[in-house]
Amino acid sequence: KDFKDQMIIDAGQKHFGAIICKSCGMIYTAASPEDEAQHIQHHQRFLEGIKYVGWKKERVVAEFWDGKMVLVLPDDPKYATKKAEDVRELVDNELGFKQIVLSCPSKIKTYFFVSNERKIVGCLIAEQIKQAFRVLSEPNVPQSPNQDVLQHHRAWRCSIKPEAAICGISRIWVFSLMRRRGIARRMVDVVRNTFMYGCYLSTAEIAFSDPTPDGKLFATKYCQT
Ligand code: ACO
Ligand code: ZN
Repeated sequence: KDFKDQMIIDAGQKHFGAIICKSCGMIYTAASPEDEAQHIQHHQRFLEGIKYVGWKKERVVAEFWDGKMVLVLPDDPKYATKKAEDVRELVDNELGFKQIVLSCPSKIKTYFFVSNERKIVGCLIAEQIKQAFRVLSEPNVPQSPNQDVLQHHRAWRCSIKPEAAICGISRIWVFSLMRRRGIARRMVDVVRNTFMYGCYLSTAEIAFSDPTPDGKLFATKYCQT
């Protein structure tokens, strides 16, 4: 018997099947050594990435019962912008984005949602834009495997008519174990209030770029209510 088989059997006696890590949220099979190794690697990188030590001059833009929101601007001290970059990298990794160049790095605003446990559990990257193309609602056809494929390729149909928008949300992300608690909703509310000094942006003035299936469900719901 080779070593690998032995490992699977040994691990399988302790816990078999899929496990979800309560700290990093990764789903893996403990029975698979490759999976476990991958988990250990992800676990450490992820927890280091979302760790928030705080800064003396941090810009708190909102406070909630379960955390606070902090804004990082491109001209902030290096330790702050470095954190923004690190978190963006984690998020892009999860979204499957590879090295997407931000249209104008000197204009982006990074918002963190920091939990009471001092972890960055939400991140929103916003940039100033001039126009956006509305995502058209899908024609009402029953779900087919084909449509599933489409959704995974993010092939939304877009209007060809540009509309004026002010704030583009290029990334929105909430830690997997903290979803459906209104964190994304609160982040967008705060962005609408703080993106442009002295005005509250309407939902028509914000635009979500290249939404994922999750992102589209959230944005549709958010903009309706
Ligand atoms: N399925 C269906 N409805 C949803 C979903 C979903 N997955 N997520 C949000 N909604 C709707 C619900 O109506 C929800 O209200 P409810 O929970 O009372 O029913 C409402 O939106 C508000 O949801 P929040 O709790 O504020 O959203 P959450 O904090 O869970 O974050 C997000 C949503 C950011 C999309 C999260 O699922 C996520 O991080 N996903 C992975 C990353 C991702 O795909 N991000 C979007 C990329 S697109 C872009 O960045 C422009
Ligand atoms: Zn883990």
